[in-house]
Amino acid sequence: ISDDTPPETLRDRSLAAVAEHIKSGKARRIVVMTGAGISTAAGIPDFRSPETGLYANLAKLNLPQPEAVFDLVFFRQNPEPFYVLAKDLYPGNFHPTVSHVFIRLLSKKGLLLQLFTQNIDCLERAAGIPDDLIVEAHGSFAHQRCIECKTPYPEDLMREHVQVAKVPRCLDEACGGLVKPDIVFFHEAMPSLFYHRRELVDRADLALILGTSLQVHPFASLPSLVRDGVPRVLFNMERVGGLGSQADDVLELGDCDTGVRKLADALGWRDELEAEWRAL
Ligand code: APR
Repeated sequence: ISDDTPPETLRDRSLAAVAEHIKSGKARRIVVMTGAGISTAAGIPDFRSPETGLYANLAKLNLPQPEAVFDLVFFRQNPEPFYVLAKDLYPGNFHPTVSHVFIRLLSKKGLLLQLFTQNIDCLERAAGIPDDLIVEAHGSFAHQRCIECKTPYPEDLMREHVQVAKVPRCLDEACGGLVKPDIVFFHEAMPSLFYHRRELVDRADLALILGTSLQVHPFASLPSLVRDGVPRVLFNMERVGGLGSQADDVLELGDCDTGVRKLADALGWRDELEAEWRAL
């Protein structure tokens, strides 16, 4: 299909119609956008869920407001709260979820145009999604460096510090700056890769949005970059980001693992999905 062919619309706003769209070969460039909701089943709390969200449970750190824990200005004065949190969030003892594995299946089948994630847990990589198809829009714990002189900091030393919630400092004595993982804090620029790859969204012929409140920009504007007539499927506990407002929006509200299992059933991929997940 050439790019200017108007995208086919769905038979109706159901997962079965989405599955038909994919099986028909009309959806070969699928863009996926994810947030913390796809990692809650892995045991990593999300941010804004009322009871279980991180922001509801940071009271013990008596922050001016919850987001301060990811604020560069606050971090410079008080790095301790972030390192208390880092101990809970640091990658290594979490396992990808069925939703991560479903995205891996899309890439295995050559259907994944790009994955944009807001998550910093590196579970997309752990699920086997190829690095060049992942945009970690808010960075990740994969690397760390001094915030003053930018000197990279070794992972083993970082792990040691995180384990005991100790604040690591720059290896260069003359600098002594604070070390921070390459997570995008508020008041920090997003990776340039985000802006480059964002151009791809209007080439997509299907968009899947999973587990995000779509409250943080510019990530939250991604779904609005999808071309008219291209179906957008939301797998989320609740309706967010104006999804459902366009004729081809499909709302699969509820647990995202349950939703992707339903889509996998309709696609005839369920056994493969479960086998991939068990094999991880
Ligand atoms: N299934 C489906 N939806 C879920 C599940 C689940 N198992 N668990 C949580 N959710 C939903 C919540 O209802 C909520 O709508 O996922 C969404 C998570 O929203 P947030 O907690 O706001 O997380 P996220 O959207 O990723 O936050 C974006 O905010 O603080 C910043 O940088 C941080 O990347 C983060 C950004």
